[in-house]
Amino acid sequence: MNTGETAAVILAAGKGTRMNSNLPKALHPVAGRSMVGHVLAALEPLDICRVVVVAGPDMKVLEEAVAPHPTAIQTVQKGTAHAVNSARDALSGTDPETVLILYGDTPLIQTDTLQDMLDQRAAGASIVVLGFRTDDTEGYGRVICDQDGNVNAIVEDRDATAGQKSIDLCNSGVMAVDGNILFPLLDQVGNDNAKNEYYLTDLIELARSKGLRCRLVEADADELMGVDSRLALAEAEAVWQCDRRERALEEGATLIDPDTVWFSYDTVIGRDVTIGPNVVFGPGVTIEDDVEIEAFCHISEASVGRGGHIGPFARLRPGARLDADVHIGNFVEVKNSVLGKGVKANHLTYIGDSDIGAGTNVGAGTITCNYDGYNKHRTVIGKAAFIGSNTAIVAPVRIGDGAIIGAGSTVVRDVPCGALTIGRGEQVDLPDRAEPMRERLAAEKKERAKDKG
Ligand code: UD1
Ligand code: MG
Repeated sequence: MNTGETAAVILAAGKGTRMNSNLPKALHPVAGRSMVGHVLAALEPLDICRVVVVAGPDMKVLEEAVAPHPTAIQTVQKGTAHAVNSARDALSGTDPETVLILYGDTPLIQTDTLQDMLDQRAAGASIVVLGFRTDDTEGYGRVICDQDGNVNAIVEDRDATAGQKSIDLCNSGVMAVDGNILFPLLDQVGNDNAKNEYYLTDLIELARSKGLRCRLVEADADELMGVDSRLALAEAEAVWQCDRRERALEEGATLIDPDTVWFSYDTVIGRDVTIGPNVVFGPGVTIEDDVEIEAFCHISEASVGRGGHIGPFARLRPGARLDADVHIGNFVEVKNSVLGKGVKANHLTYIGDSDIGAGTNVGAGTITCNYDGYNKHRTVIGKAAFIGSNTAIVAPVRIGDGAIIGAGSTVVRDVPCGALTIGRGEQVDLPDRAEPMRERLAAEKKERAKDKG
């Protein structure tokens, strides 16, 4: 008796030659997460007892990326059945009722679809094939079904007859197989076919010959899109973004021009958030309710508290943590900084490695000078302070609560709470000296013109 559990094998040994890349194909990102990372995420809610990733030789980066999941190395690529067989040792010690087989380059697969397949397994099918319909069938195995929806065979494109080629039902490659029959059947798969490879798809006919039932689950072609070129990667990204934009709208965000907003796999957007055109979210972003993000903002590894107003043209970099009602305006960059409630930095400012207390106003052109060429230093500004325009704050330095810094100051020492600090050269006024200066400059210009002849 097996354990009733489900194991999974993700095939990712393919070199991905057409990607023209040093990176294993399965590590190329969609929405900021590797393709194999998407597949692992789809498996996550299914309570899988073990996930084995089949990698090729020299794919150390892939092994590291999928850890702690074990990797099985397929030294020579002899086909999809051979690839699954390479996972045999890595699965030892498990006794799963079902083994799900997936591809590392099919990143848009959904948990619900995999659950449908497991449901078919529970209903008695020995093998469940995941298929899709398309007009563009070239290169895909065709799924041959009877009238009752039982799968009788999968025929590879290269091995198909003209009649079989006209079938529009294609094999995605994803399968759910009874754990008791998987390896015994794999032992019987031969390589007498157009590619001289061991085809996983041969499992169907082998199972059928033993009187076992094979069923089909159908999903949308977009969901089962396989990526084997940069063009296909861009298409997968487009499909993913399109779905995510729709979800953002459904969940209560306004996207003024949805097609121009780019999300990451983990972007969290609250309700009544308005996002203008051309906004890009890198990974690790949380936007709370009632935030407005104007056009052309770039935000990654940052959080924006309730009621915040960001942009246009603002950049929030890793470690920017904004409390409620913070205003970050145009050409302002915030990095590794914590901004208290109601802080305003509305124009042309760099805030890096800083803590800024609630209610502080940071004037236009303020720069925290956080880097001396060797080390980063922190700036700490208290509550309800006022930093005048064009102030350079040379960290490490602290500015106390309620302080006012005069415009154009260079702050090099700590400023006490409540102080008015002015750190700039004094203004000099020379009466009636403007006109003589103009005359001199005009005369010099005339001389130069004469010299040139
Ligand atoms: C396979 C299926 C085909 C299906 C198509 C969907 C077989 C025989 N054919 O064909 O029915 O329509 O996928 O895209 O299964 N891989 C390995 N080791 C190998 C061979 C492949 O890990 O030795 C991995 C690849 O990295 C890839 C996946 O398996 O992720 C599919 O391999 P690929 O060569 O692309 O199979 P197809 O010929 O496209
Ligand atoms: Mg393929």
